[in-house]
Amino acid sequence: MATGGSMANGGNLTTGGSKTAGGTTSSGGSKGGTSAAGGATSAGGANGGSTSAGGTTSTGVLAATPPMGWNSWNKFGGSITDTLVRGIADAMVSSGMQAAGYQFINIDDMWQASSRDSSGNIVPDSGKFPNGMKALADYVHSKGLKLGLYSDRGTKTCSGRPGSYSYETKDAQTYASWGVDYLKYDNCSPAAGSNMQTDYTNMSNALKASGRPIVFSICAWWFYSWETTTGQLWRTGTDIKDNWASFTSLLDKNGGWTSRYTDASYGSPGLAQYAGPGHWNDPDMLEVGNGGMTDTEYQSHFSLWAIMASPLIAGNDLANMSASTKNTLTNTDVIAVDQDPLGIQGKPISTSTTLEVWSKKLSGTEAYAVALFNRTAASASITVTWTSLGMTSTSATVRDLWSHTDLGSIATQYTATVPSHGVVMLKVVGS
Ligand code: GLA
Repeated sequence: MATGGSMANGGNLTTGGSKTAGGTTSSGGSKGGTSAAGGATSAGGANGGSTSAGGTTSTGVLAATPPMGWNSWNKFGGSITDTLVRGIADAMVSSGMQAAGYQFINIDDMWQASSRDSSGNIVPDSGKFPNGMKALADYVHSKGLKLGLYSDRGTKTCSGRPGSYSYETKDAQTYASWGVDYLKYDNCSPAAGSNMQTDYTNMSNALKASGRPIVFSICAWWFYSWETTTGQLWRTGTDIKDNWASFTSLLDKNGGWTSRYTDASYGSPGLAQYAGPGHWNDPDMLEVGNGGMTDTEYQSHFSLWAIMASPLIAGNDLANMSASTKNTLTNTDVIAVDQDPLGIQGKPISTSTTLEVWSKKLSGTEAYAVALFNRTAASASITVTWTSLGMTSTSATVRDLWSHTDLGSIATQYTATVPSHGVVMLKVVGS
């Protein structure tokens, strides 16, 4: 499966191969569309009021902090049912993930019947969802959680189910009537002569007109400046795979050192300037717990997503998690970094691209999150200096966010031994 569209500002994007998630092979949808990635846009969105993760603030800002939840695709592909989703909602509560801030239960592709009903309404696959989506949304809401669905700006989804092209208003009204809280909107099978920005804008407007606050998650596999005012989050790369190479590749596209995003029109190191309350770069869903990486690598994946203020959308089987997976996903010290109300996306501040220092300004005077990240095959020492963070204090209190240990007041700098492919994550506050 190849993308049909030429991508300005960074060359052609090709998506690789067949899907392995849940044994489902993507079919029926050609990826495509041509759009030019534009220059800098001042992304709007005021922060305000108290919020829970990714929800609506008291002042009505959708996704005032990066959305947190779960999505079916990475683990289950098209093998999704009402029973499975209810079990995941139950597990989100019983595992402590809800208490840690996770909120959305998002059903990805293949929830739909293979065609619309005779009135043109989108309908769920009745074999998989015999109770309908309203009943499932009611169940999810009864747990204090929110329900997300998936559609596509083209005529078919990436797995060949009906897309929303020309049905945007009808579908948005249907979702609102079911009680849907979040829509992921994909980029397969564009209609002949259609325009990507127009298609996404049409659904964005239809959701706003639906009368229900619905988070709009743009899945166009690349950054386009119009996305920052069209949805609350947008994918910045192709589909994540459950391996180190995929994780680090998406990390580099979203926030690291790559030629693509050190382009002068984005500024170095890239997309961080577009993140803020109500609008987030999305390096794709988490693979934590799916088995293709070590626990150490999953800690790094989670830590780097958090320091980039990324959406934290778990992609594993929440009903069957190892203790290590659960500990990683529910690390409230790291989640607090992701959810910091300033909404600043952290960036790499080291010149080294193998023994890296990442920093994120947090709310509070001289408060920073720091990730010391070792991409090499051997453990190594990595040092962060307070001046490199932009701090004027010569001393700082330091907390280790994985050992949950206060390390006391430390002068000038901190050095940690970081395991291969691992991370040491700190909160540093000038004192
Ligand atoms: C695309 C998206 C994925 C997933 C699949 C479903 O590949 O990028 O995240 O939604 O479609 O078919």
